[in-house]
Amino acid sequence: KTLVKKLFRESESFIGKEVVISGWVKKIRSQKKFGFIEINDGSFFKGIQVVFESELDNFEEISKVSISSTLVIKGKLVESQGKGQSIEILASEVEIFQKADLDFPLQNKRHSFEFLRTIAHLRPRTNTFSAVFRVRSVLAYAIHKFFQENDFVYVHTPIITGADCEGAGEMFRVTTLDLDNVPKTEEGSIDEAKDFFGKETNLTVSGQLNVETYCAAFRNVYTFGPTFRAENSNTSRHASEFWMIEPEVAFGDLGVNMELAEAMVKYVIKYVMDECPEEMEFFNSFIEKGLFEKLNNVLNNDFGRVTYTEAIEILENCGKKFDFPVEWGIDLQSEHERYLAEEHFKKPIFVTDYPKDIKAFYMKMNEDDKTVRAMDLLAPGIGEIIGGSQREDDLPLLEKRMEEMNLNKEDYTFYTDLRRYGSFPHSGFGLGFERMMMYITGMTNIRDVIPFPRTPKSAEF
Ligand code: 4AD
Ligand code: MG
Repeated sequence: KTLVKKLFRESESFIGKEVVISGWVKKIRSQKKFGFIEINDGSFFKGIQVVFESELDNFEEISKVSISSTLVIKGKLVESQGKGQSIEILASEVEIFQKADLDFPLQNKRHSFEFLRTIAHLRPRTNTFSAVFRVRSVLAYAIHKFFQENDFVYVHTPIITGADCEGAGEMFRVTTLDLDNVPKTEEGSIDEAKDFFGKETNLTVSGQLNVETYCAAFRNVYTFGPTFRAENSNTSRHASEFWMIEPEVAFGDLGVNMELAEAMVKYVIKYVMDECPEEMEFFNSFIEKGLFEKLNNVLNNDFGRVTYTEAIEILENCGKKFDFPVEWGIDLQSEHERYLAEEHFKKPIFVTDYPKDIKAFYMKMNEDDKTVRAMDLLAPGIGEIIGGSQREDDLPLLEKRMEEMNLNKEDYTFYTDLRRYGSFPHSGFGLGFERMMMYITGMTNIRDVIPFPRTPKSAEF
């Protein structure tokens, strides 16, 4: 059996040869003496055209198969006489495996992305989602390739954890207790001692704290896995379940961290553009006009760099009226991030050195005692795609921050141990995989770049 991808990419060596293709009917039209089927065998963004003629015993039956029926086709690969494709298969045998029900929802017309979300189990069969999810696979591979080529060790961090890395309290609780019949303590709260884990546990919001422990042994490490946030934000950029890439670099400061982030973003964009030309062409034509220009600009220019304090000054003096008032100390809202990246710098920018009060406990304090060694990467059209920092390596300072933020020190002994047994300067960041997908493909809703999106009040599949 031959894959359609191979036939397209190496067509010269297959012309005139017998091939066998199996797959799903995308389009079919027939006349008295012959008909055409476009078949998707799953191996390529494009289907291949099959010509079937009335000499075939089951010609009448083939003519009647509906879209999405499954066929096994034997035939010869020939140069196509028709427009729109260079090669096609002249069928010598067509086996009908199953005739799909006639109410298959994806007939040949345009469907809205909103509608397609309601049939998330069928949408990978459309052109758009075929392209999106092929690119998703290649992008994931590119990320691994980048880190592996740079000698980073891949660490599998846990999904079930007791820690709240970001300290934002946005966690999904994990419990083995029968919640309809919960054992209560005398004070009336849930008796965690009766739980399988014997303490409160949740789904991870970030693998960072765990990956830092491996950084202290393997030097440069990364984790890449699903993370969960129970934040009730109904936006096109937030999901309750998303994938995150989190590298951690030993003996590297915030500058090294930014260099790594920039090199990684450029590497994966280039890799996807090189490996998925058909899919990227599709996005550039139908999803985001000017996508190639945007991505080539990213590849050919340095990212911008600005401190939070400078960013606030830019926002205060730009003459634009924002819904959320600008003042030193605020958490940058999406309107501010977008102004900075889209209108002021017009390229991806790192914003560094944020006020300590709006960032997590583990970030390294600057000498001003007001700001921390944080960095966010803001991309035009998306906003924040990366959040990272240099980590606090000084034990007393770290403990002071934990106290100020009311964290229970006993929950973090594994983390403070790293500062007791050979502390070292280190930095890392988290890249939101779906946000990167949106940036590369031009898709504008996070629900359309993850196969089965989980967002507040929606997880039908
Ligand atoms: O900025 P965040 O919260 O940083 C961390 O979790 C750090 N522990 C990372 C680290 O330093 N190792 O999240 C990192 C990135 C964001 O920049 C964003 O791209 C993505 O994760 N992200 C989300 N993506 C989709 N849906 C959500 N609800 C997201 N929350 C964060
Ligand atoms: Mg962040």
